[in-house]
Amino acid sequence: MPSTTYSTAPYTDQRPGTSGLRKRVEVFRHGNYLKNFVQSVFDTQTELAGNTLVLGGDGRFFNRDAIQVILKMASANGIGRVIVGQGGLLSTPAASCVIRKYKAAGGLILSASHNPGGPDGDFGIKFNTANGGPAPEKVTEEIYARTLEVGSYRLCDAADVNLDKIGEYTLNKMPVQVIDPVTDYAELMVSIFDFGAISALLKGSFRMRFDAMHAITGPYAKRILEQMLGAPKGTVINGEPLEDFGGHHPDPNLVHAAELVEMTRGPEGVDFAAASDGDGDRNMILGRDFFVTPSDSLAVLAANATCIPAHRNGIAGVARSMPTSQAVDRVATAFNIECFETPTGWKFFGNLLDAGRITFCGEESFGTGSDHVREKDGLWAVLAWLNVLAIRKQSVAEIVTAHWQQYGRNYYSRHDYEGVKSKAADELMAGLRARLPELPGTLLDGLEVSYADDFAYTDPIDGSISQKQGVRIGFSSGSRIVFRLSGTGTVGATLRVYLEAYEPDPSQQSLDPQVALAGLITTANNLAGISSITGRKKPDVIT
Ligand code: G1P
Ligand code: ZN
Repeated sequence: MPSTTYSTAPYTDQRPGTSGLRKRVEVFRHGNYLKNFVQSVFDTQTELAGNTLVLGGDGRFFNRDAIQVILKMASANGIGRVIVGQGGLLSTPAASCVIRKYKAAGGLILSASHNPGGPDGDFGIKFNTANGGPAPEKVTEEIYARTLEVGSYRLCDAADVNLDKIGEYTLNKMPVQVIDPVTDYAELMVSIFDFGAISALLKGSFRMRFDAMHAITGPYAKRILEQMLGAPKGTVINGEPLEDFGGHHPDPNLVHAAELVEMTRGPEGVDFAAASDGDGDRNMILGRDFFVTPSDSLAVLAANATCIPAHRNGIAGVARSMPTSQAVDRVATAFNIECFETPTGWKFFGNLLDAGRITFCGEESFGTGSDHVREKDGLWAVLAWLNVLAIRKQSVAEIVTAHWQQYGRNYYSRHDYEGVKSKAADELMAGLRARLPELPGTLLDGLEVSYADDFAYTDPIDGSISQKQGVRIGFSSGSRIVFRLSGTGTVGATLRVYLEAYEPDPSQQSLDPQVALAGLITTANNLAGISSITGRKKPDVIT
């Protein structure tokens, strides 16, 4: 079974975005698209040679084919050993856990997260480093630079590995270990949470549903919630992973998880419901007739961290992505712990987690996590909420409402304009950037602008600088408007507008966020000229 070097011609569009390289499936299946990228990883990440690589994906269409190709390339490139999840499956947080546990030199995760799958859907690949987290910008830029000049790739001409059977295989002398994708992750969860208290809750009259959205978390949730914690069978819905996610968007939000939201409605509604996305890193948390915004979820978990055995003595600090609401900042102030504001994308939390400066972190985009891995973690967030509910013995609504009364409420919403022409999106952002210097101190619709900038971040640990991370307009009232373009889309541009208003008065805290934010929404539209430049009258998605 010899290894052969094949010649190839570079592609020019392989720059990784917010979370890895993400394209339509047809792009990945074209010519050497996948192989060029993987070869560029092996060429630049030289520590992989002779060491362990973790490999797995969310099971979407093309996952299996891609795994076989990568295994053969790994062997031909002198990788020491590959650990791969059975069936080619590993949720993103589980991949992070496995990289850390087995001290791998890195991992390749195949996923396009919450984007639709199937032959006409999306595919993606992401390189994670030895800390288990997404590669920092320095590394992704190295890989990208290599994709522009890669002229050959190496592949060993061997038979496919049997991914369906757990065991040890060899591929042209390279050991391949097919592992159960759930076991290591489940053990980690046991080491963090109060399984006794959660189990007692789930075996009582408390009713919950977990929607795996026909994506990767099905097997994880069934094992942990139903088998280990004793939740009744049927607690996990849509638990069979499907290559096309049943034709749905595996995106846990109020629009795409409507079936689940319905189950929380009215007096017969369940007490708690949650969902996770395609690759298992996102989460949505619901109580009966109650939606917990991801920004509030992070703040509430931070405030209640000591309910969780692993955090009995408190947490070191917190971080949130820049567009995430400032609710957690108020908790950090109250607990006298550090709070960091980072650019969008989980990779920016990595250094802070590694340095022990933060314990919890989160993003408004349904991402919450802790220092247990270096990815956001959907099931972790669900277990964290269950742990808090089991200890506090109150409903989700009671806990969140009490939180607002204590800290004030940060009304929050994100408006997305999808599939905008790239030229129009760039023009809109350039127009905003040009106006930034003149804004501070002026009034916009009666609100005084206290600062206006294009967010730049200096990593406190390694000093690396990330610029142009989104336009922020802050008002003296504490309200904020943020504009940025998505780095994960695959068609045209997506404009994201993030709106936030702070309400300290408990008697004013029960408004619908769209009502509470109505004035700010108009201000944002006028300031950026959204409808005149993009031709859009209203956003495609409101969360
Ligand atoms: C989106 C989210 C961001 C998240 C990323 C990956 O990126 O906004 O918070 O880290 O997906 O899940 P965006 O499309 O906004 O660049
Ligand atoms: Zn995801």
